[in-house]
Amino acid sequence: MGKQITEHVKWVGKIDWQLKTFHGDELSTSHGSSYNSYLIQDEKTVLIDTVWQPFDKEFVSRLKQEIDLKDIDYIVMCHNEIDHSGALPELMREIPDTPIYCTAAGEKIIRGHYHCDWNFVNVKTGDTLNIGKGTLTFIQAPFLHWPDTMFAYLDTDHILFSNDAFGQHYATESLFNDANCKAEIYAEAIKYYANIVVPYSNFVTKKVNEVLSMGLKIDMIAPSHGVIWREDPAQIVTKYLEWANDYQEDQITLIYDTMWNSTRLMAEAIADGIRDYDPNIKVKLMNAAKEDKSDILTEVFRSKAIMLGSPTYNHGYLYSIAGMIEIIKGSAFKNKKAAAFGSYGWGGEAVKKLSDELTACGFEVVDEGIKAIWIPDEDVLAQCRAYGKSFAQKVSE
Ligand code: FEO
Repeated sequence: MGKQITEHVKWVGKIDWQLKTFHGDELSTSHGSSYNSYLIQDEKTVLIDTVWQPFDKEFVSRLKQEIDLKDIDYIVMCHNEIDHSGALPELMREIPDTPIYCTAAGEKIIRGHYHCDWNFVNVKTGDTLNIGKGTLTFIQAPFLHWPDTMFAYLDTDHILFSNDAFGQHYATESLFNDANCKAEIYAEAIKYYANIVVPYSNFVTKKVNEVLSMGLKIDMIAPSHGVIWREDPAQIVTKYLEWANDYQEDQITLIYDTMWNSTRLMAEAIADGIRDYDPNIKVKLMNAAKEDKSDILTEVFRSKAIMLGSPTYNHGYLYSIAGMIEIIKGSAFKNKKAAAFGSYGWGGEAVKKLSDELTACGFEVVDEGIKAIWIPDEDVLAQCRAYGKSFAQKVSE
């Protein structure tokens, strides 16, 4: 059933407890997710966003328990990726003439997805929709995170419907951020930002400042995934501005793969060297073949520097590292330093190739890295440790 969240607004979305991956298998969602849809009941009735297609029939059926679908005057689609627009075809079978308010880019996406000639009304920033006592104001937010994205602001209840922005893949019955599990909510919010929003950080800064300059009274930020920010909603706005500003913590992350443990031994010795330089630097070692790649990317986002490590394999490096390079490259991180390391038996091309890839990913590669032949002995591990210390110094300057 729906849940009343303010005088005029009811949550009518779907909590997806069992979702473990998103965007195909691209993103892990270990705490599930939700597809938040909202029903505004004023003199007019408005539905904001729908849910993912696998839940379309359930969504429409539950919506019918809340309201006669024919009473829905307007549908507002803030963003039309499948997880929010997926139930539109099922819904529009019942109410085919209901106007769909969306951006022009949103209309193109809906048409491209569902190939239906529905009653679209294109809106842009500053356009309003009077619904009785209240008014919805639309604010385009392109590339937060798709070209079609927009926010909608409801003045009576002081809610900003932000769609993906400020969201988290987090399943909870509580709906609000003022419940338990605050650490989990933030962990999921930063993971969401690191994995989905980072490439669009310039747009985030511009849009957030634009919305702040509008002076809207915002009591709640209601995203399309996870909890609604009701307790101090400004906190997630502040975090977004922080995250969008070339975010980094005092952390160095070593991402490696290993065949016979030589590269792992190097990673551990380098990590010891980093701690020798400054025990307060947080050091993380992540085996790319074993760790969740979305979690690795989140740690890269947190880090001021990273190291990539791989043994040389067929003149290159191992494919788990190649996969991580592809993900990291797409994220277009800024203001981070890096270097490479790895073991080899002959050839030893991996370290140079990894260094080149790090440069191509936009990292400042601070030196030529370090490599070790066969299994590192105590002397070589001492060199790795010394290297870690010098690397930490270079990236802390
Ligand atoms: Fe939650 Fe961009 O869709």
